[in-house]
Formats: sequence, C-alpha cells, structure tokens
Amino acid sequence: MCGIVGVLGREAVAGQIVEALKRLEYRGYDSAGVATLEEGCLTRRRAQGKLRNLELRIKDEPLQGRVGIGHTRWATHGKPTENNAHPHASDRLAVVHNGIIENFRELREELTAKGHRFDTETDTEVVAHLVTEELRQGKAPREAVAAALPRLRGAFALAFLFEGEEDLLIGARQGAPLAVGYGDGEMYLGSDALALAPFTDEITYLEDGDWVILTHAGAIFHDATGLPVHRARQRSMASAFLIDKGNHRHFMSKEIHEQPEVVGRTLAHYLDMSEGAVRLPFDLPFDAKDLASITISACGTAYYAGLVAKYWFERYARLPVEIDVASEFRYREAPLKKGGLMIVISQSGETADTLASLRYAKENGLVVLSVVNVATSTIARESHVVAPTLAGPEIGVASTKAFTCQLSVLACLALAFGRATGALSAEREAQLVSSLIAVPGLMAEALKREPLTEQLANQLSRARDVLYLGRGTSFPLALEGALKLKEISYIHAEGYAAGELKHGPIALIDEDMPVIVIAPFDPVFEKTVSNMQEVAARGGRIILIADQRAEHESSIDFQAVIAMAEMEPDFAPIVYAVPVQQIAYYTAVHMGKDVDQPRNLAKSVTVE
Ligand code: F6R
Repeated sequence: MCGIVGVLGREAVAGQIVEALKRLEYRGYDSAGVATLEEGCLTRRRAQGKLRNLELRIKDEPLQGRVGIGHTRWATHGKPTENNAHPHASDRLAVVHNGIIENFRELREELTAKGHRFDTETDTEVVAHLVTEELRQGKAPREAVAAALPRLRGAFALAFLFEGEEDLLIGARQGAPLAVGYGDGEMYLGSDALALAPFTDEITYLEDGDWVILTHAGAIFHDATGLPVHRARQRSMASAFLIDKGNHRHFMSKEIHEQPEVVGRTLAHYLDMSEGAVRLPFDLPFDAKDLASITISACGTAYYAGLVAKYWFERYARLPVEIDVASEFRYREAPLKKGGLMIVISQSGETADTLASLRYAKENGLVVLSVVNVATSTIARESHVVAPTLAGPEIGVASTKAFTCQLSVLACLALAFGRATGALSAEREAQLVSSLIAVPGLMAEALKREPLTEQLANQLSRARDVLYLGRGTSFPLALEGALKLKEISYIHAEGYAAGELKHGPIALIDEDMPVIVIAPFDPVFEKTVSNMQEVAARGGRIILIADQRAEHESSIDFQAVIAMAEMEPDFAPIVYAVPVQQIAYYTAVHMGKDVDQPRNLAKSVTVE
C-alpha cells in the first residue's frame, strides 16, 4: 500500500525523504514522488516504477528544499503513471495520500463547477483542490485543512505541504496509519515507525480522525472535532530491527530462515517451558468455559492461519468455530451473540477489511482478541486483548514468518481454552506443549530440505497449473501453498481438500499437472493415500510432503518426496509450512520474478 513521508528539516530533505521511502518499499508500490519548497515554491519530482527512477530524476534535477513530502503509490484509481504519481498539487499546496477517498467523484464535480481543473485519474487530486478552494476563500492553511477534512469520506492518511510555508507540514489520519516523529530540530511524518527509524525513535501515532500541525516548534494534535488534544509520545522499537537482507538474496528467503528463531521466541512468550504448560502473557476478560463459540475473521494468509486454528479450537476446547474472510464477514450481517469472542488475525494490523470486521464485532458486543505482529497497529489498539506474534518486521510481501508465528500463538490459545473448558486433560496438554516446544527445532531441520525444494522448483517453474491437496489441518496449508505459489511465481495454483478431488478437480489431472500433497502421518493419512492413488492412476505427478512413515505406508510411485521428521501431526502445518514456502520461493526465483515485491500486490492492504 502507499507510503507517506514528510520531513521538516534543517538542510535539504529530498535525500532523507527517499531514504525513508525505501523503508516503506516493503508495502508494495508502482510509482513514487517527492515535493519540496524551493525558495518557497512548490517543486515536484515524480517517476513511474521503482524508487531508483525517482532517485535518477532527482539526480538530474536536484532539490534543495528544507521541507518536503514524499510518497510511494500503489495504484487504486488510475494507472501507475508518472502523472498519477503523488504528490498531487495545485498552485497553493501539494498533498500525498494513502487510502481511498470514497466521495471523490461528487467532490470533483462540485470543484469542477467552481472552475478547478483536474489533470489526473486519481481520487487524491480532489483533496488538493478541496483545500485549495478553502485557501481561496481566504483561510490560512490550518483552517483550510480543518474545513476540508470533514468533507472527505473513506479511509485515508494525508500529508500537506503549502506554497511559501517553510515551517509547516500538516498530517491527517482517518483509517490509515500515520505517525509523527521528533528529531533534533527536525520533525517528521511517516506511515509507520519503520520509515522514520533512521531519524528518530520518538513517535506519536495519530488516532483515527486526528490531524496534526508540524512546525519546528513541535506538533499540535487535533481530534476529529477540531479540538486540540494531547497524544502521548512513545519509544519505537523499529530501529532495533535490522531492515536488511543479511546474506540472503531476498527478504522472503531471510524471513523463511528466521522462522525457527521467531517461532521459538513467540512460543516462549506463551509457554512455560519448564512446567510444560501454556501461560498466556495477558489476562483474558472472559472465561473460556463460558464461551458458546468462537468467531474468526482475517484475510489471505492470516485467514488460512485461522482456518488451521479452527481445527485446534474445536479439537482441544470443543468450541465450535465460525470463520470467514474479512471482506465477506464485514458485510454479511452475521448474527453475533453479545459476550461472544471474536479473534482477528493480521500481520500488519492495518488490513481494512479485518479492521472493519473487528469494529462490527465490537458494535455487536463481542470481546475482540487480535493476533497481530505490529503492536502499535490500529487493530492492536482497537482490540480488547492483543496476542502478539513476535515475528519482527516482515518485509517480503508474501507472508511467511508471520504465518507460522500466528499458528504458534493460535495453538497456544487453543490449548489454554482447552484447559479452561475442561476438554483437554492435563496429560494431553503436557504432551501437546512438549510437541510445540519441539517445533522450532523441527523447522530448522525442515530448512535442510532446501536443496530438494530448489530442485523441484526448477521443474515446477515449467508448469502451467499446480494443485495442492491436504486433509485436516493440512487442507488450509494446501490453500496457503497455492496462494504462495501464485502470488510470487504467477503460476496458477489451487488448494483443495483432498477428499473433494473426485467432486470436480480430478478432471484436471494429467501428466502435465504437478500435484503437491501435504500428508503428515495423521489419522486421515489412509484417506489421503486413496486420493493420491486416484491421482497416480490418471498419470498425475505427485510431490509428497510427509514424514518417512507416511512415505513407507503408501506404496505409490511419487515424482518426489520431501521427507519430514516425525512429529505430532496436529502441529505439522507450522513445520510443513517451511518446504511449502520454499517451493514457491525457488519457483519464483527460477522464473526471475520479483520475489519480494510481486506485481499488483501490497504488503499492508489498507483499502477494501
Ligand atoms: C499473502 C499475504 C496476504 C496477507 C493478507 C492479510 O502472502 O501476505 O494474503 O496475509 O493481505 O494481511 P495482514 O496479515 O497484514 O492482515
């Protein structure tokens, strides 16, 4: 999603702005731009494509301004051209924007009737003209912004720079995140603390509806009613994280390899390793034994983590789970029982649909527990209870370590609920906890299959379609495997419950269709073997991900077997995610794709 940076500096700021924008690259973008005041006059440099293009543009035509704003754009309204790139400007101001202005059409009509001329296809340009119209009425910049903001509908973050105003930046937040940073004689605006980490670790997050006036003297915050408000400063941990690829070619590879460590760290937060029991690091504002059911909502990979957790909550706590993708859940008017529990899952904590599901649940009287990776995110802040994943910043667009950390947290919650409902015996809990404790080691072991996954990926890169199959908790992992492959390699892939094969997808099977079967040696293994036989009988090429026992028991001629260590099959998705991710990663690398920033995708989806 789009990234916003603003710097009120002491020297030329364009370099700082581009540096900060680089730290927002992970969010995904397709054009970028900077605006500064050159001797008081608004001046812009914009470029289609990567930030490198913008840097070259600035090198050719340098900027000296000491105040400026910058942006990485992920196209929503209008193509990713230079003309549609932000900042958008009038003769009075420049503005950068993240999110969507829902009523931009009616505002554009109104402003066109007043003589404003629009040059782009974007919704953002309307903001520039709306504020300009207020300035033309004789208002000062602050009053003009204050008058314009209530007229905007949608979810957005904005940063404004005004012609002739060397000591002023204005930021606003409605649904999309924005932070103020405090430097040594400098002030900053940024979409997140990561962007500002090279300059400062002192941050204030704007609340929804807030807008802020930045001058060298400091920041003055206003709430949605326009009244000045106090917003606390906090120390950001963002600079503690190294945002580089280490020895890896891509962030995705680095993040796959970090999993034993971050999953271990996350589990240690939820487990009492010496007692062999779950110890939640927070108090729950309800007793799980009073719950009638659990509702889960999330998007994409986070949704698949929730789908795995459904099996765990139902199996260990005997609590029925209703789960839906957030974009459906938020609109389908689901009847919810007051006092029930809603679990939302999100790496970024900013996903618009997931946030809307959270708000819907709260309006209906549910307690919201969020499993999030960004502790300062909107979803975290609006939840009653936050169950953090300790994955650290995930930069690659394809979620990897956040997924396995989400699974780890959800497994611990399911065990804790199982104990509370009395459905899980102390003995079984202890067994399952010791299986969870073994997971990071098993993930490290799984990483050793890398040469085989790389070799298989070489063959997969020639496929047109790939089918992923699994049963039980391996079914959501099959869905995740297909998502991972298609999002970074652009090969069409589908995940299916293995038992559904004969109800349709079996028609696709022939010798050109690789079928990846995820089948730990669990109680439904025999059933999966029958499905694999159906595939083999039709000439399908099967790549099996299973433990040695499973391979032995099945007597099928596989194209390849990724042999995993024996483990508690219920938690296999956490460990088996490793080869599943590596297959997608190496296939995309082999095909020469942009693994960390696949086309059309954004890291943090703050629009519906
Ligand atoms: C896929 C992927 C996406 C996200 C989804 C939700 O690799 O990363 O499917 O999982 O956009 O994002 P978060 O977890 O930030 O809410």
